Amino acid sequence: MAKPSFFITTPIYYVNARPHLGTAYSTVLCDVEARYRRATGYDVKFLTGMDEHGEKVAEAAAEHGMTPQEWCDSQAPFFEGLWRQLEISNDDFIRTTEQRQHDAVQHLWERMRESGYLYKGSYDGWYCVPEETYFTETQVTKSDEEHHSEGRHLCPDCGRPLERVREESYFFRLSAFQDRLLKLYDEHPGFVQPDFRMNEVRSFVEGGLQDLSVSRTSFDWGIPVPFDERHVTYVWFDALLNYMTAVGYGVGTPDAKAELAYRWPAQCHVVGKDIIRFHCVIWPAMLMAIGEELPEHVFAHGFLMVRNEETGQGEKMSKSRGNAIAPQDVIDLLGVEGYRYYFMTDVVPGEDGAISFSRMEQVYNADLANSWGNLVSRALNMSAKYFDGKTPVLADGWADEQSPLREIAQGIEGRYAKHMDRLEYVQAKDVVMELVHAANHYVEDSAPWAVAKDPARAGELAQIIANLLESIRICAHLLTPFMPKTSAEVLRRMGAGEEADTTDLASACEWGRLVGGVEVTKGDALFPRLASAKSGK
Ligand code: MSP
Repeated sequence: MAKPSFFITTPIYYVNARPHLGTAYSTVLCDVEARYRRATGYDVKFLTGMDEHGEKVAEAAAEHGMTPQEWCDSQAPFFEGLWRQLEISNDDFIRTTEQRQHDAVQHLWERMRESGYLYKGSYDGWYCVPEETYFTETQVTKSDEEHHSEGRHLCPDCGRPLERVREESYFFRLSAFQDRLLKLYDEHPGFVQPDFRMNEVRSFVEGGLQDLSVSRTSFDWGIPVPFDERHVTYVWFDALLNYMTAVGYGVGTPDAKAELAYRWPAQCHVVGKDIIRFHCVIWPAMLMAIGEELPEHVFAHGFLMVRNEETGQGEKMSKSRGNAIAPQDVIDLLGVEGYRYYFMTDVVPGEDGAISFSRMEQVYNADLANSWGNLVSRALNMSAKYFDGKTPVLADGWADEQSPLREIAQGIEGRYAKHMDRLEYVQAKDVVMELVHAANHYVEDSAPWAVAKDPARAGELAQIIANLLESIRICAHLLTPFMPKTSAEVLRRMGAGEEADTTDLASACEWGRLVGGVEVTKGDALFPRLASAKSGK
């Protein structure tokens, strides 16, 4: 039977700046889910890419004395390079300057024209270039008061100065979709996750929707409107479509149609909370207008904030405050696997998270060095020492013997999956760490070094070590989405390397699959303890 498709996407990133901790956060979050779904039998398509059109990118190019295309080309390696370094397993990397996106967007324009939800008018209002967003007079006036900056027009979202735009434009009749969107939210309460974000979206839509300007004439860095070449596509109208372009929208060949039918709708768009409206209001309305299916879920994550060590408060990361942390700084401290583990298990994915170097060190030392890494090295060392460099030969029925570890391991994959399915990584990690901690306690309680002194207790010793190795094997599987290399290495060291790429996680995690009498490798410490060198940073 063909595997079910699981199509998951990151936002496509603006190329006005290098990838940073925030963009890497969205990407790793998706990668963990993509790896988990592959391990549970889905045929995953994991898409990421770059958002290359629009005024902001054109301005960045001009500042660097390059054409926009040259600029985008020069930035692509930084994104692709960081994703390779962070072990991102994307299956596709889309750039909106590619021909496939050009064709798909032009196809969208034709469908929009036929739909009757498009009209030509003129836009007279405000535009925030850093956010690539339009604002009405009333939204801006309000922000003026809030920012105590009467006379200047500032973005109500980011506070930066706005540009006045007066130009002919095509409009998408977004206002016509209010009822249909509210119905969507009622009928599919899981459309926006986590749940509390749904309330935000719903009240925004209840407040009424305005038609959206979807073309620009005052600059030309964008995809031309096919029936009116003086206009280029508004960057968000272009960008949102990337998700469908990547699965064959607008191509029309039998293969592309089959691909589209198999992959669309997407199961999950992962986005930051700042771009929810685009994904939960504008995007579904666009799809409704052209008669295409809607994505199943939009998962909105919070923002990473930097914890101020003096006040304990989270602050926005920015270069001007001098508190920005680069991905490389964290990789230098924790290594790539530690990086992934820290951001995915210590920051609640739906909420804003305050991060700090001291917290990173604490989590790394407690969970990875002292608990997981230590458990693996103790168990492998004991196995090698007491069983001639091998895992113990397993007695018949060994897996049916009662033990506290077997008890915790029963049904562990189901408990973990319940959380992983909803991107609740902190809780999923807790399920795994319960077994890791129990295994460390079990070492102390069962004292294998004492048992080893009495040859009459050889069977008991084999059982203890088998219980430990079996717990480790299961934890390695469950930690794979977070730390793929470490888990593969742990399995390899215990002679189970070929299990690493399982597509049947539930079976792989069944108690009793350990292979006895195979060679073990001791190896270097997986997570050497960190001395407090950087914690003051
Ligand atoms: N190009 C648009 C997305 C188009 S998708 C069709 C865009 N790009 S972005 O590069 O500005 O941001 C991409 C993602 O990075 C967003 O999901 C945003 O929330 C995330 N982050 C940017 N800074 C962040 C933090 N400080 N913390 C966590 N994520 C943040 O928006």
